[in-house]
Amino acid sequence: MNDLLRFITCGSVDDGKSTLIGRLLWDTGSLPEDHIATLHKDSRAHGTQGEGLDYALLLDGLQAEREQGITIDVSYRFFRTARRKFIVADTPGHEQYTCNMATGASGAELAVILIDARKGVLTQTRRHSRIVHMLGIRHVVIAINKMDLVDWSEQRFADIERDYRAFAHDLDFTSISFIPLSALNGDNLISSSSAAPWYQGPSLLGCLEAVHIDNEQSADFRMPVQWVNRPNLDFRGYCGRIAAGSIAPGDAVRVLPSGATAHVQRIVSMDGDLPHAECGQSVTLTLAEEVDISRGDVITSIDTPVECADQFEVRLLWLSEKPLVAGRSYELKLHHQRANATITSIKYELDINSGAHLSARSVSRNTIAVVNLSVNRALPFESYARNRTLGGLILVDRLSKETVAAGMIHFALRRSSNIHWHSLDVDREARQQQKQQQARCVWFTGLSGSGKSTIANLLEKRLHAAGRHTYVLDGDNLRHGINRDLGFTEADRVENIRRVAEIARLMTDAGLIVLVSLISPYRADRDLARGLLPAGDFLEVFVDTPIAVCEQRDPKGLYAKVRSGVIKNFTGIDSPYEAPLQPELRINTTETSAPEAAEMIAALIAQERKPA
Ligand code: ADX
Repeated sequence: MNDLLRFITCGSVDDGKSTLIGRLLWDTGSLPEDHIATLHKDSRAHGTQGEGLDYALLLDGLQAEREQGITIDVSYRFFRTARRKFIVADTPGHEQYTCNMATGASGAELAVILIDARKGVLTQTRRHSRIVHMLGIRHVVIAINKMDLVDWSEQRFADIERDYRAFAHDLDFTSISFIPLSALNGDNLISSSSAAPWYQGPSLLGCLEAVHIDNEQSADFRMPVQWVNRPNLDFRGYCGRIAAGSIAPGDAVRVLPSGATAHVQRIVSMDGDLPHAECGQSVTLTLAEEVDISRGDVITSIDTPVECADQFEVRLLWLSEKPLVAGRSYELKLHHQRANATITSIKYELDINSGAHLSARSVSRNTIAVVNLSVNRALPFESYARNRTLGGLILVDRLSKETVAAGMIHFALRRSSNIHWHSLDVDREARQQQKQQQARCVWFTGLSGSGKSTIANLLEKRLHAAGRHTYVLDGDNLRHGINRDLGFTEADRVENIRRVAEIARLMTDAGLIVLVSLISPYRADRDLARGLLPAGDFLEVFVDTPIAVCEQRDPKGLYAKVRSGVIKNFTGIDSPYEAPLQPELRINTTETSAPEAAEMIAALIAQERKPA
């Protein structure tokens, strides 16, 4: 039996989660002296249990400590018995509960799911079960708590067990145990209680001690490189935590994505050189041969390397309050790699209660969905089922830095390895030279009627007269052709901007100066466009005209239609506009005329390209 079990408890505070963890720590003698004294004092002062100890205060106290530090959302509590050591993830917070729970569950092998005997199986129970399942947990203990409040009814217990089994039959949990308990009174928590003579099974702790966990993860050596340590010219070490398998000096290894091979020379650790290291250990490897390795690369056994891919099917747990919209781009973090990722399509959303696959155009908070994800470069990875470290990712909003989703890679999409980018002999450089110009993309953003197209038109005339090769990509015009299938919902606008950004990329690759005139109301989408071009080639021009002025000008009569209710989702009225934070140029059109604006942009284009 493995001597360490990592588990998580799921349930709200009202279900008795704090009391349960508090009591496990207390009864196994795992608390420092000062906490014990504080608990006695606090229980008398403001406990909810009369003369008795209020174990929930224990965690509240620890939580208060944590709040002062405010850095961690999940804390890990350690306790041990004669049979096993345990680490329990304590995941506080109501608002962010799912996010914290996902973090806590990511390293766990078992979940204790609390059910209030009076309430039975709730949507929340099902949600938590699906989340722990998707995070790879295959053992669950259903702790049916507050049995004292239903008079230890055997019937009630049996009903809840039946309901839960009916729900969980499509989840391939390896083991499900049901335990009737009262965390408050300590019944069936540490030892079997006489309160429920009809129950013959183990106590919760007995169950946690006995459960057998098989490691189903891959055993081939994998170590994602966290850091390259080069203190001087004579030493180059690759630091990281071994994510699978084991390694010894002399072993042949392969490095991904480059595919380079080498031999391990030394395993350096805090305690000196090691003859051997295995999964879970943090080490520094040195190699006998010189190979180029950077942060985020993965060192693997030579014959069983991992794949690299840039398109994946991924199961996502959406955490952000802002719904997921296909087409949007995020920063992806997968072990120590970072990349730009776009959710290219939502395949389906999972019905929390029934497990049914629902078609979805957007996905809201705390929902599980399966999506296709496209990344801007090939990343070494493994499916989450084989390796949690190499297959577990998060998506981060670039501006707010909020973690918007946790994801598990199912597999790479075949097309990512079957479609190649042809390198052509006549390249961008050659085309630019022939045209005697530096290709650029000037991206005009602003409200409808702000003057984007007017300025773009003047600018193009001016550039054309000076012998420059140009093209204007105008939102209205493109919506008659390539984008004629798109409307003005958020998802459609995201797709509209993505397509135009890709066209602008091809056109700059052709050596042209491209002028894009699109409302492009969302920052994330403009950033996506920026990310497609070499740094310095993308010039964001914010045509800043107050909405009142746009409405007064109303060149196409659209604002009048909006006011009379004919047009919906109109930018600036009932659909948002996110102004650029750091555009290359901001034009205040109430102070600057269109010809002046065109002049300013021409000057910007003529400037030396900013270094990358
Ligand atoms: S974007 O938001 O997806 O970037 P785009 O620039 O292509 O928009 O198209 C905007 C043009 O479509 C506007 O200039 C206007 O003429 C027209 N239009 C029609 N309906 C709307 C609407 N609901 N919101 C904004 N523009 C609209």
